[in-house]
Amino acid sequence: MNSIKKCLFPAAGYGTRFLPATKATPKEMLPILTKPLIQYGVEEAIEANITTMAIITGRGKRAIEDHFDISYELEHQIKDTGKEVLISEIRSIIKTCTFSYTRQIEMKGLGHAILCGETLIGDEPFAVVLADDLCSNDDEGILSQMIKIYDKYQCSIVAIEKIPMSETNKYGVIAGNLVDNTDDIYRVTDMVEKPDPKDAPTNMAIIGRYILTPDIFKILKNTPPGKGGEIQITDALLEQAKEGNVIAFKFKGKRFDCGSIDGFVEATNYFYKKSKPSIT
Ligand code: G1P
Repeated sequence: MNSIKKCLFPAAGYGTRFLPATKATPKEMLPILTKPLIQYGVEEAIEANITTMAIITGRGKRAIEDHFDISYELEHQIKDTGKEVLISEIRSIIKTCTFSYTRQIEMKGLGHAILCGETLIGDEPFAVVLADDLCSNDDEGILSQMIKIYDKYQCSIVAIEKIPMSETNKYGVIAGNLVDNTDDIYRVTDMVEKPDPKDAPTNMAIIGRYILTPDIFKILKNTPPGKGGEIQITDALLEQAKEGNVIAFKFKGKRFDCGSIDGFVEATNYFYKKSKPSIT
């Protein structure tokens, strides 16, 4: 039985960098080729044997609920046509998984969004996927790799990647010490949300994959607004890190920042080439 059974998807943000596309469409529904970003995230969770999806939505996000539901009219229209195959993947996702939703009423930051998920998660460790960080690895998905690390260390896990020092102000940044003679697993000693390069402890950035232990909810309730006046998950994790309870893991695979135009285009090209191996 998987130690991690539920995956939380904070999906209430406005996606202002993609206006006007995101005026009436949730940014999580923007497609890379024919699949919306959030479906890639859900597929990564399924690959890690997680079938309970908990989604934090907000106003204007109903398309996400409709996507993970049956569309009887559409099914009827394309039944017994060549197009049926195009929805077979999403149909099997709907069959395999349960989806629960709760709304984040006010935009008070990622930490606040995660706290809104407490009613869906309860008292157990859980995964968090930020759908605009699109991850891909041929052998084993990033969440799957992280669950193995969780099983060994039994504490919160953050996925990290080295970034150019000039970009530290876009990420949560960690400092830590390598453990158990590995070259990819750190016990976190410090973490800072979006520091200026001159104040950043390292260039190791947190990307949008977390495994969190449920005590994070109590910590989040007592976490004051931080960077940008928002409740930051990075600040709450720092409290756990002070007790030695956060591991940072340099995952294997690729990650695209689909919250930026450059990353979105890169991901589109990558998945296009992958779907058509003859193209170089
Ligand atoms: C959030 C987190 C940040 C993390 C990033 C990963 O920031 O606050 O610590 O590094 O996700 O994508 P956002 O990109 O939502 O501003």
